[in-house]
Formats: sequence, structure tokens, C-alpha cells
Amino acid sequence: MYTARIAGTGSSVPERVLTNADFENMVDTSDEWITARTGIKERRIAEPGQSSSTFAMQAAERAMEMAGCDARELDHIILATITPDMLTPSTACVLQDRLGAVKAASFDISAGCTGFLYGLSLGDSLIRSGMSEKILVIGVETLSKITDYQDRTTCVLFGDGAGSVVLERSRNGRGILSTHLFSDGSRGKLLFVPGGGSAMPATRESVDGRAHYLKMDGNKVFKIAVKSLEEAALKALEHNGVTGEDVDMFIPHQANDRIIQAIAKRLNLGPEKVFVNIHKYGNTSSASVPIALDEANRQNCIKDNDLLLLDAFGSGFTWGSALIRW
Ligand code: ACO
Repeated sequence: MYTARIAGTGSSVPERVLTNADFENMVDTSDEWITARTGIKERRIAEPGQSSSTFAMQAAERAMEMAGCDARELDHIILATITPDMLTPSTACVLQDRLGAVKAASFDISAGCTGFLYGLSLGDSLIRSGMSEKILVIGVETLSKITDYQDRTTCVLFGDGAGSVVLERSRNGRGILSTHLFSDGSRGKLLFVPGGGSAMPATRESVDGRAHYLKMDGNKVFKIAVKSLEEAALKALEHNGVTGEDVDMFIPHQANDRIIQAIAKRLNLGPEKVFVNIHKYGNTSSASVPIALDEANRQNCIKDNDLLLLDAFGSGFTWGSALIRW
């Protein structure tokens, strides 16, 4: 019986920083409001010539370097994003070419902020089934490209970046113990981008109507996010016969510090067990969990044999969790 272990992590964010003070000059907001309501102090924003593949590439190379993995060894590239370079070909295929991953089957998945956990779950299944030995899983976003910088209710929240892991076949029982995924499309329009797909192709009217930007009913999403994140986390713990006290590090999606703290409290996790970097990057959607995982790893916050709980919620709605023995 094979399991999938994380052999390397990597991340990459743009150099350009947009602070809360910068937003005070753009929309009717304040550093106090943003900090108190979200925990965000600044976020990273791509330059005009940069796209999702820019950061995905750097994150992938860093993860592969840590894993000692050559791109030619990869069997699959799974890339989660809601901001691909273009509608087709997939950003995973753009990466496959740039990396020289000659034998990798490559594809994108779209599952909002839960995208990385969907990718991790797929990668885990491919390795467990014996179909794959080495997989690159990436979560990447350039949300700045679909953010309406005239809408104060959303523009202060989002940032750009990428995180990546190399999954490798393992026989010692360590690695991904379980993944649990959920979705509920009935409330999809609480968080969506109406324009740009086949339902509303780009027209002068759709662009003038700002239909290509992300819309969110934040307050309604907040309440559902807290409930769903708790559900996914508890499923992971129950499935493995453990409790919050057994978890060494909780790495949740970074959408709102109030959401993170509410979940940590419900799971009985002390602050030393909760990894938070939302103050630096804002909400980077599918990149948030793998960026946080990479930072926790590189800052030596994760020790050998630690039990890690990953948890995410996003547009769709989608939500899910993963429990990992490091
Ligand atoms: N600056 C100042 N005031 C603001 C701002 C701002 N940037 N944005 C909104 N306000 C105002 C509102 O207009 C409202 O004013 P009113 O009372 O006069 O109507 C007031 O602040 C309160 O607004 P709420 O929306 O009720 O504020 P809330 O406490 O819910 O915080 C937030 C908003 C931060 C968006 C929160 O709801 C949230 O984090 N939601 C969940 C986000 C999330 O988890 N998304 C899922 C993943 S994202 C993805 O998948 C891409």
C-alpha cells in the first residue's frame, strides 16, 4: 500500500507591496477597519507583465529543489487556480513546457480557495492507486487581475502568489493520511465572477459594467465559511480517531483572521499551533494554504512526525481538509 508524502515545498509572491495605507488613497477605507475586520496589513500585487504562471513557475522550482526532483521525473502536474494565464491551454501545460516535464500529464482545476486541497486530494489518489510516483501540485492566483479596485468591500482583501508541493510515493505510512472534500453550488453567486465565461463572453457592455471582477457578499460568506471549515476539520480528525489536541500545526486558508481564530477555538487549538500569515499576503485563494505550508516548513515550525491539519473554504462553494503525518 502506497501513501503520498510531501517531499518538498515552495512558494513565490510578487515583490510589489500594497499596504492598507495605499488603499486609504484609493477607496473610502482605513487601516483600522481593514486590520480589525480581516487581520490584513498588506498584500503582494503582480506587475502588468506578470501572470499566474510567473509565480507558479518559481514556487514549483523551489519545491522541486527541496525535494531533489528533476522535472523529467514528474508523472503529473496539477495546478489549482481561478486566474489562469488564459482560458486554454491550461496554466499547468504552460508550466509543463517551461519546466521540461516531458512525461507529465498536466491539467488545471478550479475549486476557488479550496483548489489546492482538491489538487492534493487528487494527487494523493493518483499515488495511492499506483498510477503516479511523483506529482507537482500547485495553488496559484493573480487575483489582482480580477479585483475591482473601486469596490472597497472586496479590493482590500485579495493578493497574488503561488505555493507548491512535490508529492512522492512512500511506503512507510507517513504523508497524507486522509483528505475530505465538499461542495455546494446552490450558493455560488454569493462569491463569483459573472463575466468572461460562455454565459457572458466579454463585450463592451460587460467590461463597462465591471462584470469581469470578483463579486462577494462577504458577510453571508463569512458565516458559511466558519461552519464549513469546522465541518471539514472535524471530519479529518474523526476519520483518523484523533482530536484537536493531537494536532501539532493547523494550516488554514487565510481569508480572514477572525475566521481562523474562530475555528482554532472550536478545535481547541492554542495560538502556537495555528499558522497565520494573512497580515502579509491577504487572501490569495488557492495559493494561501501552500504558501502558508511552505513558510511554516522553511521557518522550521514543522518537525518530523508532526500531525498537520490543512483546512480551506472558497467559491463554489467548496471546502475541504487534509490530515498529514509529516
Ligand atoms: N472599509 C471600510 N468599510 C467597509 C469596507 C472597507 N474596506 N468594506 C465594507 N465596509 C463597510 C460596509 O459597507 C458596511 O457598512 P454599513 O454597515 O454602513 O453597511 C460595514 O463595513 C460592515 O460590512 P460587513 O460586510 O458586514 O463587514 P464584515 O464584518 O462581514 O467584514 C469581510 C467584511 C471582511 C469581507 C468579511 O465578511 C469576510 O471576511 N468574509 C468572508 C471572506 C471569505 O472567507 N471568502 C471566502 C474565500 S474567498 C475566495 O474563494 C476567492
